[in-house]
Amino acid sequence: MQVWGEAYETPAKAISNLSMHIQTHGNQIFPVTAFIANQAANSQTLPTADENPMFYVWIYVLIGLASLTFEMLGSSILVFGGYRASRLLFGQLLDTICRATMRWYDVTPTGRILNRLSKDFETIDTTIGFSFSFTIQCFFTVILSVLTIVLLSPLFLIPGIVICAAYVSYSKLYLEITRPLKRLDSTTLSPVFASFRTSLEGLATIRAFSAERRFLDKMNDNLDVTTKCYWALWMVNRWLLFRFDVLGGIAVFCVMAIVALFGGNTHQQVVSILGADVTALRAKASNGFEGLLIVSAMGLTMAIYWLCRFISQLELDLNAVERVTEYLNLPQEPPSIIESARPPAYWPSSGGPADSKLISVENLVIKYAPDLPSVLQGVSFDIKPRERVGLVGRTGSGKSTLATALLRFVEPVEGHIVIDGIDISTIGLYDLRSRVTFIQQDSVLFSGTIRENLDPFNEYSDEACLDVLRRVHLIDPSPSSTRPASIRNSDESTTFAVASSASSVTGTETNKTGAIKLDSVVTSSGSNFSHGQRQLIALARALLRKTTVIIMDEATSSIDFETDNKIQLALREEFASSCVITIAHRLQTIIDYDRVIVMENGKIVENGSPAELMSNTDGNFYGMCAKAGMV
Ligand SMILES: Nc1ncnc2c1ncn2[C@@H]1O[C@H](COP(=O)(O)OP(=O)(O)O)[C@@H](O)[C@H]1O
Ligand SMILES: [Mg+2]
Repeated sequence: MQVWGEAYETPAKAISNLSMHIQTHGNQIFPVTAFIANQAANSQTLPTADENPMFYVWIYVLIGLASLTFEMLGSSILVFGGYRASRLLFGQLLDTICRATMRWYDVTPTGRILNRLSKDFETIDTTIGFSFSFTIQCFFTVILSVLTIVLLSPLFLIPGIVICAAYVSYSKLYLEITRPLKRLDSTTLSPVFASFRTSLEGLATIRAFSAERRFLDKMNDNLDVTTKCYWALWMVNRWLLFRFDVLGGIAVFCVMAIVALFGGNTHQQVVSILGADVTALRAKASNGFEGLLIVSAMGLTMAIYWLCRFISQLELDLNAVERVTEYLNLPQEPPSIIESARPPAYWPSSGGPADSKLISVENLVIKYAPDLPSVLQGVSFDIKPRERVGLVGRTGSGKSTLATALLRFVEPVEGHIVIDGIDISTIGLYDLRSRVTFIQQDSVLFSGTIRENLDPFNEYSDEACLDVLRRVHLIDPSPSSTRPASIRNSDESTTFAVASSASSVTGTETNKTGAIKLDSVVTSSGSNFSHGQRQLIALARALLRKTTVIIMDEATSSIDFETDNKIQLALREEFASSCVITIAHRLQTIIDYDRVIVMENGKIVENGSPAELMSNTDGNFYGMCAKAGMV
């Protein structure tokens, strides 16, 4: 290649040596390396294509091989590098999102989070690498086409500059227009999916209210809006292509006109004026170069068009990366484990004397955000080991806030919570949350099996899992069970059938009778179970963990009264050595508890045994019981 290149600089010598070269090598087919070595050893010659075509064929093969190698190398870097980058980024993002503060979850729509994790990553995984490589490819094609044209026909520089200015101004305009259009295109598409999803979810309600027309119209309106944006975007693409085609036509025309009018002589003159000495090549293969010129001029148009398209696409794709990196700086929860302050394995222990304090809350003040009013205003109380405490009060009085504060989902502005001698703000979140069980009003199940939901870390035996299912009456007490069910009137217990949708939704009938088994399938978020069943499964999970502190936030409010009673009975028997805090929707649930705390407007207004509170006929608790028809 070097020899060939050098031959350009010594055309006269090349031509004079040509005959010698032909004599030496004839029409033999040489491996190109040997050929070049020979060339270097013998003389500085350039064979003609007619005499020795194989020389050029080998050059061509070499170029092909080099291009293949670079292509493979480039693609490998793109695919593996892109894969690694997006894996790293996804891991970091998932970590940051999972450890974000509850406040952030409160103010961030779920759809947006899901978009980051799905759509933005789809872009990072698939399109960004290709937009990037195509942009580079188009860029170099443009540069090479321009170089080829200018080098072979320098006169083209004159119209070329004008044409180039037109290309640049159109490209600028195009990029400015497409930026907002592409954004509009993707933002107007979200309502279409959202309305489709909500319509599907609420199909029964829509039909019940005969609102099909309204929803259909809304869907059509959304589709109209997004189609308008899509149409406009494509029209702009066509607008650009049309102008570029015209410019390309002008460029080709100019090239051909230059070649036709000035031919070789003028060309040679211009070349010598510019000082570039390519005349030998020009003289030898005039027709070929003219063809090359025209092809280059035509290729240039398409290359510039695609360069513009890919630059705007790349810009949009890079927005996805920008959005993801923005999420990497989310406000984070405190660390999950603090090595220097790990609680002992037995913590919290309920083994202390009955009058000691297991949980001690002192002057707790909680705000959901610095700019919001305080939701809890100086709450103080103690809970003894093995005590069962009912927490009641109006909606919005701060019961759930208090419960979540015990798990540090919200951090206190003032005051602290001490559990079994350890201030919970000093230990890691994992250590705290793995020792306290919290059952909320809406239990969430993972898709998988019942067993995976009960024991996600596979720490318990099948028998233990079945046992807890029995205890919460999700399955019949098995006659073969070696351990008697602790619930007394077991004949009254109900076996819940899996919602009939279960098999139709999942398509897999794990059990023919429809009764719940360990390997029963749970669909996403447990939608194939009723609300009550989900609560019972969550309760079974709590029974399995047997923690010392159990907090239930209206956990049984969607369970029928009779089952609620049975659960309370089970709690009493199974968790005799645990401390149970129940936020109760039904006063009957907690009437036999050891203590009842009544809250109002973020403060504790009454605190005592149910009997004590009932005896105060002016008190809130008495009033509530009277309203519930219990007195
Ligand atoms: N995530 C939140 N962000 C801001 N304010 C909240 C949030 N959750 C609850 N609140 C406010 O805190 C107060 C107490 O709510 P909550 O503890 O849920 O009451 P309860 O459980 O007794 O019904 C209410 O005024 C409510 O508006
Ligand atoms: Mg609540």
